[in-house]
Amino acid sequence: MGRMSDEPLVLGIETSCDETGVGLVRGGSLLADAVASSVEEHARFGGVVPEVASRAHLEAMVPTLERACEQAGVTLHDVDAVAVTSGPGLAGALLVGVAAAKALAVGLGKPLYGVNHLAAHVAVDQLEHGPLPEPCVAMLVSGGHSSLLRVTDVTGGEDGGEDGGGGVVPLGATIDDAAGEAFDKVARLLGLPFPGGPHIDRAARSGSSVYVDFPRGLTSQRDLERHRFDFSFSGLKTAVARWVEARERAGEPVPVQDVAASFQEAVCDVLTRKAVDAAVSEGIGDILVGGGVAANSRLRVLTEERAAARGVRVRVPRPGLCTDNGAMVAALGAEMVQRGRRPSALDLPADSSLPVTSVLA
Ligand code: KG4
Ligand code: ZN
Repeated sequence: MGRMSDEPLVLGIETSCDETGVGLVRGGSLLADAVASSVEEHARFGGVVPEVASRAHLEAMVPTLERACEQAGVTLHDVDAVAVTSGPGLAGALLVGVAAAKALAVGLGKPLYGVNHLAAHVAVDQLEHGPLPEPCVAMLVSGGHSSLLRVTDVTGGEDGGEDGGGGVVPLGATIDDAAGEAFDKVARLLGLPFPGGPHIDRAARSGSSVYVDFPRGLTSQRDLERHRFDFSFSGLKTAVARWVEARERAGEPVPVQDVAASFQEAVCDVLTRKAVDAAVSEGIGDILVGGGVAANSRLRVLTEERAAARGVRVRVPRPGLCTDNGAMVAALGAEMVQRGRRPSALDLPADSSLPVTSVLA
């Protein structure tokens, strides 16, 4: 490898949900990570409102681009390739990022890479911990997804995973709510603000995780036969709702910290058990955790503990890189360039339900 400044400068744009992210990466180094969030505009609705998110992206795009260039001390003319999340995510939100990326690619005369949001959550880790462990099992847990993936090539392989036989293969996923969604809904039940994950995390620190024995979805022998590495969190959410309602009906106070801790334990117990089982059964020695819920303090500790007990290593990016950002898209784009993948066509669509196996669109 040559001097750092010889390596291509990759711009990454992320707009799949409520964060407008612009990142700049050169080789394996993070130069800038500018994020504008519309989360506060959604708070009173208790969830992300797609139309509001799209408009916010439109307003934030240019200022966030400028901020990223300033942070990195570069101009757009220094950029060698443009990467953008083309899916999965909210259709209207994705369109804003894809349109901006196309305009930049055309204007600068540089290649465009439309990439998968989930693979980007995996690729981002190399900015902090160096080259990715491949193969690895990725546990991606966010407001929109909960998946276990086998990653042998984060770029999806030669054809970007187009034919489904590539480097990112799903082992399991949630069959109903995503883990982050469960955190957000339970937080609401407990009167905590949106997004609920960080509030539950904080409340749980002074609560008892064995106060209520909440159900562990899809862990019975019978469920494991069909759903060994799948998740289900909607039964858990309902169980918490019933428990809270019963308390309120009886006119008794709800011990928010204990319920938060017991709920969080149920989620983390299932996630970590299945992730470690998946790694062991696939003969893979590394687990990589990503997505907003990876910021959860209990999830980090329990994953580390259970993986270590089975001889499996764990890598978790710092919280700022776990939540949605542009750096993760730039990181995956940089891998595409480095591994010589062909760029996307300029008629690249935004695909709200892009399958996880399609890493490069
Ligand atoms: O990856 P992300 O920023 O956006 C999506 O793609 O969804 O994840 C956001 C989700 C929200 O549901 C939020 O409540 C959750 O991540 N989250 C957490 C924590 N921090 C964020 N969940 C549990 N514990 C946390 N500390
Ligand atoms: Zn995400």
